[in-house]
Amino acid sequence: MTGLFVTFEGGEGSGKSTQVARLAARLRARGFEPVLTREPGGTPLAEGIRALLLDPARHCGPMSEALLMEAARADVVTHVVRPALAAGRVVLCDRYDDSTLAYQGGGRGLDAGLLATLNRAATGGLLPDLTLLYDIPPELGLARRERAAGDTNRLDREPAEFHARVRRRYLELAATAPERWVVLDAAAGPDELESLGWAALEPRLPRREP
Ligand code: TMP
Repeated sequence: MTGLFVTFEGGEGSGKSTQVARLAARLRARGFEPVLTREPGGTPLAEGIRALLLDPARHCGPMSEALLMEAARADVVTHVVRPALAAGRVVLCDRYDDSTLAYQGGGRGLDAGLLATLNRAATGGLLPDLTLLYDIPPELGLARRERAAGDTNRLDREPAEFHARVRRRYLELAATAPERWVVLDAAAGPDELESLGWAALEPRLPRREP
């Protein structure tokens, strides 16, 4: 039996992590037991890599950054995502391999073909069934993020043009596979975003969990 693999993508401060929690609550209310995870992270090894990657005090070049993201990805896919899907579960993943295409590709300018190859190596070709893109102008997202956290990670600190390139690449990716991607206007409030996300997710749910 295979479950449903849903990924959440977007720029900084798009509110996607809140939406993961809200959609998980809706799923539980419907009798599902969703598995929540995130990237980079989701396993002890990958959370360790996350701490290295997001530490503002640490320098990390573009290729090192890409390879560390992929190392973390391989671990969470092997130990969390694939087993959960094989057990028929709904998996909600806060970021997945499209983040690498958008950030390391669009943002850093690494070759898109190379990154696609690395993604395939890390995931074994596992693609999401649905990807929700929480699209937001970077100025708005970064302002929200600073208000919310009072602190920023290493990637938040990139210049505005970096975040604009990330956003553009996300929108390009979404346009190439509209059957998988749903683009949501993340400037909307959390309640409205939750309704829009649920409207995309609900029709794709498996009839029932095992
Ligand atoms: P977030 O999950 O809290 O948004 O933080 C993760 C950061 O890592 C975010 O700035 C995006 C970045 N990232 C990449 O640059 N490439 C990747 O492949 C992934 C998964 C995340």
